Amino acid sequence: MPAVQISELRAHAGDTVTVRGWVATTRSSGKIAFVVLRDGTGQVQGVLSKKELPEAAWETFGSLTQETGLALTGVVREERRSPGGFELAVSGLEVFGPSPDYPITPKEHGTTFLFEHRHLWLRNRRPVAIARVRHEVEQAIRDFFYQEGFTLVDTPILTGAIGEDAGNLFATDYFDLGRAYLAQTGQLYVEAAAAALGKVYCFGPTFRAEKSKTRRHLTEFWMVEPEVAFNDSDANMRLQESFVSYIVGRALERRGEELKELERDTAALERVQAPFHRISYTDAVVRLNQLGSDMTWGADLGADDETLLAKDRDRPIFVYNYPKEVKAFYMKANPDDPRTVLNNDCLAPEGYGEIIGGSQREDDYDRLLARLLEQGLDPETYRWYLDLRRYGTFVHSGFGLGLERTVAWICGIPHIREAIAFPRQIHRLYP
Ligand code: 4AD
Ligand code: MG
Repeated sequence: MPAVQISELRAHAGDTVTVRGWVATTRSSGKIAFVVLRDGTGQVQGVLSKKELPEAAWETFGSLTQETGLALTGVVREERRSPGGFELAVSGLEVFGPSPDYPITPKEHGTTFLFEHRHLWLRNRRPVAIARVRHEVEQAIRDFFYQEGFTLVDTPILTGAIGEDAGNLFATDYFDLGRAYLAQTGQLYVEAAAAALGKVYCFGPTFRAEKSKTRRHLTEFWMVEPEVAFNDSDANMRLQESFVSYIVGRALERRGEELKELERDTAALERVQAPFHRISYTDAVVRLNQLGSDMTWGADLGADDETLLAKDRDRPIFVYNYPKEVKAFYMKANPDDPRTVLNNDCLAPEGYGEIIGGSQREDDYDRLLARLLEQGLDPETYRWYLDLRRYGTFVHSGFGLGLERTVAWICGIPHIREAIAFPRQIHRLYP
């Protein structure tokens, strides 16, 4: 019997086929019984008739439990009322993987329990829908940069220099060379690659030993980081808005079914079109004070401030030119107001907060060296990075978009830990 996937049943109407998968539900009304099987490509209902089935097979049905691994053989019948439009008139069934006492039942489970069983919970409809949206977003990211002529450059995960911030590094012993750090960013390396290839990006896991337990922080997350030679801060923001609009558009176009499963309000996503809103940090402080925040000039925006600024907006909003004290060493000083740097954060609407951090890079050797020293970083470990300012320094800009925050926003889920299959958090290393 040919084994077919559930998504292919349409092409086999009238044929006898075998479908392999896992038991979602069973029910029986005495002489007739039903088993819903899922195989990752879809769901199909198998119909069993006691009269027409060998007795052993009927008994096997009686022993089926949730998530039993099962092969069903039968004739593919068109059935409009059935999900997928087809059902299987079962003539044989074979258990290949029993599943006694499956821990995740149709009743409600607490979040902690579900994350402890994440390896099994992944089979549920909601995690499956989120996984498909994440997959689409990753593919859209790669397609966008491919179409725009960027070259993908894979950057190291074991690094010698601190990329962002000394405060949340994971470190490990590295042979005779002392400490190695897990990359917080690939940025410094794509800056070097931009001078070789013009438009480049990296896309991979990044690590931050975040001691905060918020719904926006993981200790391991995926970041995509483009870097473009001769883009200034303004061009950098224009790239971000066309990039984010493209990704959201792709999710809407190709993952409508999954967004529906997640009960996402897609009208809010339809409005995500360039140009995005823009406000300077200095104006944002005034606006926030009007809205009731007590933040003062010089402080970083907190999560509540970000929510407040973006919540009534129909599209994402750029906040640009922050005080240099709250940002990383590599951002270019703003010639019009040296208290600030030429950077931007991109805040998603609906309370999701920062999804992108970006900036024009400091391209002046002396100023960059001074910034490293001010921040207590060892210039020796940045010698190679400083070289980029010694040999043909150039205006360049880039940004980092956090994949999980973006997927959480697109899916409309409250916590980013659901946006990755196996989240890593301060208190979570298993499964
Ligand atoms: O703002 P960040 O720290 O910027 C950088 O790392 C730059 N080197 C990027 C660049 O210019 N090439 O991080 C960028 C984005 C954030 O906006 C956020 O979406 C995500 O990465 N992010 C996190 N996501 C999940 N958990 C965390 N702990 C995150 N930290 C940052
Ligand atoms: Mg940031």
